[in-house]
Amino acid sequence: MASAGVRGALPGWVSVLAWGLALWCLCGAGPLWSGSHEWKKLILTQHWPPTVCKEVDGCRDTLDYWTIHGLWPDRAEDCNQSWHFNLDEIKDLLGDMKIYWPDVIHPSSNRSRFWRHEWEKHGTCAAQVDALNSEKKYFGKSLDLYKQIDLNSVLLKFGIKPSINYYQLADFRDALTRIYGVVPKIQCLVPEQGESVQTVGQIELCFTKEDLHLRNCTEPDERLSFRPDARLATGASTHGMMVCEEGPIFYPPPAKTQL
Ligand SMILES: *[C@@H]1O[C@H](CO)[C@@H](O)[C@H](O)[C@H]1NC(C)=O
Ligand SMILES: *[C@@H]1O[C@H](CO)[C@@H](O)[C@H](O)[C@H]1NC(C)=O
Ligand SMILES: *[C@@H]1O[C@H](CO)[C@@H](O)[C@H](O)[C@H]1NC(C)=O
Repeated sequence: MASAGVRGALPGWVSVLAWGLALWCLCGAGPLWSGSHEWKKLILTQHWPPTVCKEVDGCRDTLDYWTIHGLWPDRAEDCNQSWHFNLDEIKDLLGDMKIYWPDVIHPSSNRSRFWRHEWEKHGTCAAQVDALNSEKKYFGKSLDLYKQIDLNSVLLKFGIKPSINYYQLADFRDALTRIYGVVPKIQCLVPEQGESVQTVGQIELCFTKEDLHLRNCTEPDERLSFRPDARLATGASTHGMMVCEEGPIFYPPPAKTQL
């Protein structure tokens, strides 16, 4: 008797899965396979060095401010492979680049490697819009947006600082939503063995393609619970970061600087 019930339930479950896959392909992967480089918004991604460094030796885990990971067009990568990175073009920005956009993971290697990667993968796509159509404009505008957003001050203003005591995800989300008027995407490392709490590591805020104003990362008609493009389009899974779950969240203090 019971087994008939189980068998009866199977087709329904299978069709939900099939639907999910179909949607995922349509919304998420479509633009990537078609080879088109159409994108709709820019994602400014900032990360928290102590979290980025959690599993990495020789990493800059003493930085005590959020740094830039990248400015990423959604749904487009590697748009022009003949447009190579040239460090000379951003020599006027190097002071700020070293402070706000450091290569957290490889501090001792050739410093421009991370910037070259970001330019070739994301900058060449961002360059479709006039405001970002050169290396200097792309990196310069990214720095401007970072300063304008001023995430570090906003968190401090709400009393959110690295601590051995846990916050709630809602503390971060509510503070940022209140200040920016848009919903941030907050990403965490899931608890490792022996840990009970996720660790906050990355925050994404989105900007319009047309005039680089803050906007929600989701479309108005997009269901919040189902975001097929989240990983594919943004490369959001880098360093194992996942969208944080509701509940407690660890905001780790930086390692102490050795004196
Ligand atoms: C790719 O970049 C090169 C070098 O900047 C440029 O000459 C060329 O027009 C670009 N191609 C496209 C399709 O934008
Ligand atoms: C760093 O990389 C650039 C190319 O990206 C190269 O021209 C330069 O010689 C390298 N510098 C060092 C110190 O390795
Ligand atoms: C952004 O999303 C939030 C929550 O879904 C919504 O309340 C708000 O109106 C949206 N803002 C814009 C500008 O679309």
